[in-house]
Amino acid sequence: MAPSASLLLLPLISLFSLIFTAAVSESTIQLPTAASHHLPTAASHHHDGAVAYDDDVYCDSWRLSVETNNAGDLASNKPLRCRQYVEDYMTGIGIQADSDMLAYAALAYAKTVDIAGDGKDAWVFDLDETLLTNLPYFRDYEFGYKTVNLTAYFDWVEMAVAPAFPASLKLYNELKELGFALIIISGRGEAQRSATERNLVNAGFTGWDRLLFGEKADTGLQMRELKSKKRLQLVKEGYRLHANYSHQWCSLVGEAMATKSFKFPNPMYYVP
Ligand SMILES: *[C@@H]1O[C@H](CO)[C@@H](O)[C@H](O)[C@H]1NC(C)=O
Ligand SMILES: *[C@@H]1O[C@H](CO)[C@@H](O)[C@H](O)[C@H]1NC(C)=O
Repeated sequence: MAPSASLLLLPLISLFSLIFTAAVSESTIQLPTAASHHLPTAASHHHDGAVAYDDDVYCDSWRLSVETNNAGDLASNKPLRCRQYVEDYMTGIGIQADSDMLAYAALAYAKTVDIAGDGKDAWVFDLDETLLTNLPYFRDYEFGYKTVNLTAYFDWVEMAVAPAFPASLKLYNELKELGFALIIISGRGEAQRSATERNLVNAGFTGWDRLLFGEKADTGLQMRELKSKKRLQLVKEGYRLHANYSHQWCSLVGEAMATKSFKFPNPMYYVP
């Protein structure tokens, strides 16, 4: 391997091994990279008293409990019988309808916010599985039912071709029109900044105010700690956080609470 190539790869490799270690030891520590929350745990059978229902009914209930953050260990340990349901939801009209509804509610709320005009009225977006969808990647991993390959994930990120969720792109542009400072807090690492910026632009997102990534100093933080840290930093900088828009509850709790939170649907994986 040429020296320049190995230098380039070094941060990714060390990131990979650290994430991997955290994952196999089932540590609660998560690295601040998107990859760390792309590690679905193995699905398993559950004795949850609901076996009598048809899969569609059962899996609707299961998904509702995940989205409302009530699912407990069923959030990470997805029921095996819902594998097809998750695929159908993610590839069909289900997530489209839900994300349209969510964006509609978010815009209605956004219109009630007084924009001061000093550029500090902020709307915080999560990145992966909220603005961008990694669905083409997850197809190879049974929509979260098969353990992901992190090397392949980093390759996918470098391709910068993750599509936008149409409802999120539309909302993003409407918020920009309204005068919000658009802030993206990503669980990806700084090493992925340039690919991520390219991807956002490819997918139609422009004009963000801040795009924040996990940094070296954040290594070892859980995702919720990382997101809280970034939000507190924003508040110190004078931003008023009016809303959170994320596919993970861990990004919607913690300190520096925004006025309102919007949970974007994601039955594929759960970050504790
Ligand atoms: C993971 O993906 C990389 C890159 O695509 C590939 O070279 C490697 O063989 C894969 N590892 C496994 C265990 O499948
Ligand atoms: C919503 O997002 C903001 C910004 O990410 C964050 O500070 C907050 O903790 C999240 N949740 C709530 C309830 O505000």
